Amino acid sequence: MSKPLWIKHATQLATLATKQEGPRSKEAMSELGLIEDGSLWIENGIIQAVGTTKDIEKQYEKRLTEAEVYDAKGLLVTPGLVDPHTHVVYGGSREREFEMRLEGATYMEIMNEGGGIHATARMTREATEEELIEQTSKRLDSFLQHGVTTVEGKSGYGMDLETELKQLRVMKKLQKEHAIDLVSTFMGAHAVPFEYKGKEDEFVTYLIDEMLPLVAREKLAEFNDVFCEKGVYTPAQSERILEAGKTYGLIPKIHADEIEPYGGAELAAKVGAISAEHLLKVSEEGMIKMAEGNVIACLLPATALYLREEAAKGRKMIDAGVPVAISTDCNPGSSPTTSMPLVMNLACISMRLTPAEALTAATYNAACAINRQQVIGSLEVGKLADIVVWKVSDYRELQYLFGVNHVKAVWKKGVQVVNQE
Ligand code: NIG
Ligand code: FE
Repeated sequence: MSKPLWIKHATQLATLATKQEGPRSKEAMSELGLIEDGSLWIENGIIQAVGTTKDIEKQYEKRLTEAEVYDAKGLLVTPGLVDPHTHVVYGGSREREFEMRLEGATYMEIMNEGGGIHATARMTREATEEELIEQTSKRLDSFLQHGVTTVEGKSGYGMDLETELKQLRVMKKLQKEHAIDLVSTFMGAHAVPFEYKGKEDEFVTYLIDEMLPLVAREKLAEFNDVFCEKGVYTPAQSERILEAGKTYGLIPKIHADEIEPYGGAELAAKVGAISAEHLLKVSEEGMIKMAEGNVIACLLPATALYLREEAAKGRKMIDAGVPVAISTDCNPGSSPTTSMPLVMNLACISMRLTPAEALTAATYNAACAINRQQVIGSLEVGKLADIVVWKVSDYRELQYLFGVNHVKAVWKKGVQVVNQE
């Protein structure tokens, strides 16, 4: 048995603990459960006690000298950040497309000409499993360096059976080998493969009959996602895919209303999706339906910035009662970043979330978006000791001093994985 870990004297300990279960909306998004001069007592990777340093000194009076001590005086301590939406497993890169967009081409034009998702699909098909593991592992290291301790990852750069399974198996292996926790989503309907252009329904049938059963049999994913967008999959096709996934126990997610309003948010509520993603062009009706159905809006302000689009209406969604989470959308086309701290900055700057809401969106609500709120997302007794110490003393500084990595130390399940001076 390893020594207990005692993190003490945190100037501000943002526990994110509240009584409310499930995703937080409205005022609950501002409840950070702040403790001044806070302490955490950790054993076997699990949080055993949370309180003021005085509380912990009293509770563990007889065992204080047993512990390995980390003094967080002058520092902010939060739960490990959670990234609930990434496309982290991919081959190659697309810097030429970045230039092309600056020269005036649009994201959809590039994709329709065989670039974009199709280009990455070609490079991912060519890559071996070992190459994908090596490249993805480096990105996961970078996530840890930015204070992220759990990452969702999607397939979708194959759109053929072999490559989809390859991507998901890479995630399964990395879940075992890498310190970070990875949560898998099947996204075979990420684009329409060229050979199925104009025959989308046929591909949907193929995906349902041939791909989903194998994904389920090997237990390769927990979630099922689809790019519901004009020129990609219609709401009706998306519904077929998501309903079929449900019969295998896969929880629906939807890339919705990113480029045009297309009924994606409405569909998310209809099929009982755990979250709808992007939502730059969500309709009023869609927003109301999401609030009623408690569907989490997973917003991706770095993607909007990178595509030079106006960000999603995060402020309006929170005010309308939609629970909001945020994510990097880490992918080689529309958001090649692993920086959740930057995403928190942008959530404030471009979507007008408050610093407190942005922190909730990147921790507790993000955990809810991947159905992990029972074990991560807040610092509470019984939860995993996924913890970040930041080189600032107040949570507002995290969002205020922007574009900077403030991470000082990270623990994953009680093991220190980042230590920066
Ligand atoms: O979430 N919108 C679709 N999918 C990704 C982009 C993937 C890519 O361009 O490679 C997204 O932004
Ligand atoms: Fe995405």
